[in-house]
Order: sequence, then structure tokens, then C-alpha cells
Amino acid sequence: MDLAKNFNDKVVLITGSSRGIGRACAKTFSELGCKIIIHYNKNATAAMEVKESMNTETQILQADLSHESGCKKLISEAGETFGKIDILVINHGIWERGEINKITTNDLNRTIDLNLKSLFYLTRETIPFFPSNKGGSIILISSTAGQRGEANYSQYAASKGGVIALTKSLAVELAPRKIRVNAVAPGWVKTDMANDVLQGDYLKEIIATIPLKKIAAPEDIAPSVVFLASNYANHITGEILNVNGGSVLCG
Ligand SMILES: NC(=O)c1ccc[n+]([C@@H]2O[C@H](COP(=O)([O-])OP(=O)(O)OC[C@H]3O[C@@H](n4cnc5c(N)ncnc54)[C@H](OP(=O)(O)O)[C@@H]3O)[C@@H](O)[C@H]2O)c1
Repeated sequence: MDLAKNFNDKVVLITGSSRGIGRACAKTFSELGCKIIIHYNKNATAAMEVKESMNTETQILQADLSHESGCKKLISEAGETFGKIDILVINHGIWERGEINKITTNDLNRTIDLNLKSLFYLTRETIPFFPSNKGGSIILISSTAGQRGEANYSQYAASKGGVIALTKSLAVELAPRKIRVNAVAPGWVKTDMANDVLQGDYLKEIIATIPLKKIAAPEDIAPSVVFLASNYANHITGEILNVNGGSVLCG
């Protein structure tokens, strides 16, 4: 199969594609000839740099996805941009520390609203923009934290565990519309999100726990997202693809 032919004329919206994993996904889909909708919240300069690095048709859209109205605005503008959405990658997120004895309602809401509730709104709003005859593909970004938990980040782990349950539920619910729903669950990835903790001795300790002895680069995650969106995965739905160097196996 020629992957570029597979993706010819496909419209891909990637949330949180100004930086990190989302940016790597945007670049990889662009190299395959897709039309790309880059989304950011605050970092307009980074989003513009992503656009400038691409040769295919692109649009940049801004939205704060921590509330329903921001999600609706993004999908309405994204749907209008190219008249359809074929592939939706919901990647944006935050990772905040939250010890259980100190956690507040605001802390909880920030993470759950952005990392979990927005996925419901974005999916609901996108359904009318998938071509009704061909369907589409949704890829959600979970985490090893959603599979084995994460001490002191329990609200993040719960949000990412919720992403896994959502993936499996929507896969069955949306199958009659030919919309496949899968998730990628990365382990540690070298991005702004984790940069502060991936330093010094702690970095060495983390690497020692990963069977493949490497922290992933964003470019190590993007091909799995592309695979799940491609025809190579046309009979795969409801799947959680681990991209973690084997780390869940020894957690
Ligand atoms: N890095 C890791 O080790 C790791 C591991 C497992 C899973 N993940 C997951 O992978 C995904 C991407 O993470 P990353 O490491 O690439 O993160 P990142 O480099 O910190 O990028 C986060 C992205 O999310 C956007 N964003 C943040 N707050 C937002 C808001 N309120 N509304 C809309 N967009 C918002 C940011 O936009 P701006 O640039 O405009 O701020 C940015 O594009 C996340 O879901 C994360 O939980 C990451």
C-alpha cells in the first residue's frame, strides 16, 4: 500500500499541534500529503512555525479546549476550513502534580475538563463533518498513567484512564458510521510537558526503568498515530497502542 495515496486529500485536525507530540503528528501527516489543521491555545508563534515547516495546505486555529464553548468553536471553524474532517487526533493535555491530601476542586476541574471532558465535546461536534459515506478515524492520546496509575498525579491518571474507557465505548458506538476510534498510550516523551522532571539523576532513574532504555522523542509516537489513521488499520477499532519502550510491562 502506498501510504501517501492512502492519505491524499485527507483533512486532519490535530489538537495541541503547536508543540510536542501533536506537532510531530502534524508534520508526519503533512509529509504524506494531508491537509492539516493546526490547533493551539496560547502559543501562536509555535503554531506559525509548524505551519511554515509544511508544504501541504494548512490552517491554524486557536481555541481554549478547557470548556465546551471552546471545543464547539474549534470544530465549527475546522469543519468550515476544508468542508470536512477525515481524521481527528485529540492530543492536547496538561500534566499537573496533585497530591491527594492537597488537591482542590479547581485542580481537579482543570485536568478533568481539559484532558477528558473536552474529548466528549470535540468528538460529538466532529461527527457531522466526517464524510457520511466513508466515515473517518479518531485517535485519542492516553498515557501509561491511565493504565497503571501515577502516584501524586492521580487526577491526570484518572483522566487518561477515562480516555481508554472512552476509546473502547466510542469504537462500538461509532462503528455503524464507519468511524474507527483508537488510542495511543505513550510512556515518557521528551516534550515541554515533562521537560522539568526529565533532568539529572531522576532522568537516569527513569531511563533505567524502561526496557528499551530510552525516553521517546515526539517523532517516536507520531508514526503509531498515523498507522491507526491509515488503511493498514482499517479493521482496528477500540485498540490502545502502547508506545512506551516496554515500560508498562515492568511498572
Ligand atoms: N510528554 C509525555 O511524557 C507524555 C506521556 C504520555 C502521554 N502524553 C500525552 O500526550 C499529549 C501531548 O503531550 P505533549 O507532551 O506533546 O505536551 P506539550 O508539549 O506540553 O503540548 C501540549 C499541547 O496542548 C495544548 N494545550 C495546553 N492547554 C490547552 C488548553 N487549555 N486548550 C487547548 N490546548 C491546550 C498546547 O497548546 P499551546 O502550545 O498553545 O500552549 C500544546 O499544543 C497529552 O495528552 C499528554 O497527556 C504525554
